[in-house]
Amino acid sequence: MIRKMSFILGLAAIVAASGGAFAAGGDPKEGAVKSALCHGCHGENGQSIAPNFPNLAGQKPGYIFKQVTDFKNNHRYNDTMSPMALTVASNQDLKDIAAYFSTQKSMTAMIPGSDGKLLKQGETIFASGNPKTGLYGCVNCHGKNGKGKSGSNQVFPVIGGQNKDYLVAQLTTFRSGERKNDPAGMMGDIAKRLSDAEIEAVSEYLSSL
Ligand code: HEC
Ligand code: HEC
Repeated sequence: MIRKMSFILGLAAIVAASGGAFAAGGDPKEGAVKSALCHGCHGENGQSIAPNFPNLAGQKPGYIFKQVTDFKNNHRYNDTMSPMALTVASNQDLKDIAAYFSTQKSMTAMIPGSDGKLLKQGETIFASGNPKTGLYGCVNCHGKNGKGKSGSNQVFPVIGGQNKDYLVAQLTTFRSGERKNDPAGMMGDIAKRLSDAEIEAVSEYLSSL
């Protein structure tokens, strides 16, 4: 497992090195106007209007760019979001929109996690994983408080302060293989090691950050 994990982290470094550039050159002022349609669900400042919609505020611009592109190309699918992605006319528009949301005040969950027991379990999973199942701690890739790795790393999304219902849904679809747009299968490999109870706990914890 250790060897497999360092292999995955090696891949992550390669993907990270190639990832930074593709969202550069976005103009947040242009993006504020171009993202008008998105505000209906993701909120004017990237704080979404429903707990099953993801917050985009303070998300990494390269990650936003990649997800919308994946929705466009059917590498990721969602009944509600896929048609919305197709309304973004050009890569420049998408860069501007990504720049706008990424420069908004860091996301906070609509209903922050508050169940003491779950928060504790979730914090342990986040920090140290689960040695029994070879689960790697989330902090290693998603950074301190789940706010992403520093600066130019665009590969690992912000998950701290994300909405719980959305987090549970993503971990469940990564585990089933329904969502499989993660580079090098990194997140699928993690999700397959998570039990339902662990998904519940770690999502409760992340939504409290
Ligand atoms: C009608 C509601 C709706 C509108 C309007 C909408 N979205 Fe979404 N968006 C969603 C939903 C729902 C999801 C979650 C999809 C899933 O569960 O896979 C999503 C997911 C996303 C994600 C992935 C976030 C993540 O953390 O992985 C991005 C990025 C995104 N939307 C950007 C946009 C942009 C840019 C626009 C405007 C062009 C937009 N959305 C308009 C509903 C909407
Ligand atoms: C080896 C690195 C790695 C580890 C460890 C890891 N992740 Fe991830 N995770 C990723 C990558 C890369 C993505 C982005 C996938 C993509 O581009 O679609 C991601 C995406 C996610 C998403 C989707 C975010 C969104 O906005 O849609 C969630 C939720 C998530 N991870 C939760 C976790 C949790 C919980 C843990 C710990 C149990 C964890 N991750 C551990 C690499 C990792």
